Amino acid sequence: MAKPTDPKIWTEVDHYLEGLFTPADPALDGALKAASAAGLPAIQVSATQGKLLYLLAKLSGARNILEIGTLAGYSAIWLGRALSADGRLTTLEVDPRHAAVAKANLERAGLASRTEVLVGPALETLSRLAAPFDLVFIDADKERYPAYLDWALKLTRKGSLIIADNVVRGGAVADPKNADPRVLGARRYNALVAAEPRLSATVVQTVGAKGYDGLSFAVVTH
Ligand code: SAH
Ligand code: DHB
Ligand code: MG
Repeated sequence: MAKPTDPKIWTEVDHYLEGLFTPADPALDGALKAASAAGLPAIQVSATQGKLLYLLAKLSGARNILEIGTLAGYSAIWLGRALSADGRLTTLEVDPRHAAVAKANLERAGLASRTEVLVGPALETLSRLAAPFDLVFIDADKERYPAYLDWALKLTRKGSLIIADNVVRGGAVADPKNADPRVLGARRYNALVAAEPRLSATVVQTVGAKGYDGLSFAVVTH
């Protein structure tokens, strides 16, 4: 095994945890295969993070879920599986190639009737959506996270959950001098969430096969 100071151990432990908590699954494994075959970047949430999204959607009894940033539909499958038969997942994707792979993956996962992939820049498709959503998962272009937060607040209700991926960025968010627009987007997002009186929130740092990052969890309190 790697030493605890070696990031390789994060991957080794992720594989150990996957063996326990996310056993082989034809729809999810097939989605990753199809994404890779289509040349999509492997930037989806990890299996254990996908399971966390599923558990939170289940726990909150979410019936109407919004995802911003579909990629190949991997996190959408996890979230979609938490829905009851009358639940809906709407997921937004700017790249038509990503959306096509995602639609096929959701179909193979048996989720086609409960899910909709809207293609276009999220700031355009968001304006077409009807509130309220019980859970919003923000995972698209990091520069626009502050704008996505505005939309998430407009499209949710008291009790809704707003989750955002990639808000720690290898620790770069804690460096006030970092000028990377993605880091600035995440930093601004965290500041806005923290200062928003309608939200009660925290950020959990994550390590694993996807490196060092973090997930933000915010509950709409009023
Ligand atoms: N949630 C996915 C990963 C999303 S990766 C998963 O975990 O499985 C981020 C996705 O956001 C990419 O597919 C990218 O094309 C998309 N994206 C980037 N900018 C966007 C925009 N302005 N509107 C909608 N989608 C966008
Ligand atoms: C990228 C996007 C993500 O949502 C992620 O989890 C990791 C990387 C990216 O755009 O590089
Ligand atoms: Mg992400």
